[in-house]
Amino acid sequence: MAISILTLNDGNQVPWIAFGTGTALFQQDVQNTVETAIANGFTHLDGAQMYENEESLGAGIKASGMPRSALFVTTKLHRLQPGQTAKTALHVSLKKLGLEYVDLYLVHVPGHHAGHLKEVWKSMEECKREGLSKSIGVSNFEVEHLEEILEGAEFPPSVNQIEIHPYVWKSLQAVIALHKQHNIVTSSFGGLSPLFRASGGPLDPIIEKIRARLESTRGEPVSVGHVLNKWLQQYGFLVVTTSTKADRMREYLDTANVPQLTAEEIELIENAGAQRHQKIFSN
Ligand SMILES: NC(=O)c1ccc[n+]([C@@H]2O[C@H](COP(=O)([O-])OP(=O)(O)OC[C@H]3O[C@@H](n4cnc5c(N)ncnc54)[C@H](OP(=O)(O)O)[C@@H]3O)[C@@H](O)[C@H]2O)c1
Repeated sequence: MAISILTLNDGNQVPWIAFGTGTALFQQDVQNTVETAIANGFTHLDGAQMYENEESLGAGIKASGMPRSALFVTTKLHRLQPGQTAKTALHVSLKKLGLEYVDLYLVHVPGHHAGHLKEVWKSMEECKREGLSKSIGVSNFEVEHLEEILEGAEFPPSVNQIEIHPYVWKSLQAVIALHKQHNIVTSSFGGLSPLFRASGGPLDPIIEKIRARLESTRGEPVSVGHVLNKWLQQYGFLVVTTSTKADRMREYLDTANVPQLTAEEIELIENAGAQRHQKIFSN
């Protein structure tokens, strides 16, 4: 089944779900895992300079035998070394990846460039203008960071990749509203955190109840992970996830085949999420 596509504010298109090479795969050799992810249907690979595995991500892409044009590759800018710019840092990444361009280049963490965000964004824009990255965006940006780079930008960011799950949902409403205003695609990471990193909370019984309903409607297995990924997909978010297991990779992609959540189920998830504020990732 073809992966559904989101359109960015610069007209480029992006598969709605990405296979990430951070968190559990941080600093790991990801060649085989990336090859497995592509063999099982992932076409969007999410990397970063910070993950210190761009070489093996590139090796996995090459070994997959997939044409470059059939893949969407993201990397992210880490802290800048003295004399470095976002553009020179991207040149280093491209060399490691063995690619001529990436599809998306993100400023990974705003705090790494405090006082210099506008300058960094200018260099990101140069990367786009020169075709080193087809699209540019940011990650972990809050309203104030977005406002800083939007002022005077030639290209607004196309994506903001942030931690999203029901235990932080309430706190994200202002930034998501700003995304809508500028047609910035909201991208999520850590979406499964309430189930596996913060279990035992008010969401657990709600997710299980919805899972059982979806499974009976579908007549095929539905997992608790499916429920949260479906919730994210229904908002039109770009979901970044990961796994070390082929079965789970297929399960994530199968989210598209899971029946839609009802408005009432979405409300139940968000009300349960609002009972606990728990951010998992700190920047
Ligand atoms: N921009 C940023 O600052 C930032 C921060 C964090 C992450 N990211 C990106 O987002 C990607 C995904 O991050 P994430 O780990 O937060 O994604 P996630 O979708 O929240 O979680 C994926 C993890 O959940 C585990 N999992 C899934 N189903 C499970 C189950 N039934 N039982 C137990 N464990 C289960 C998987 O482990 P298995 O291997 O066992 O399947 C996998 O490690 C990263 O690789 C990275 O590319 C970006």
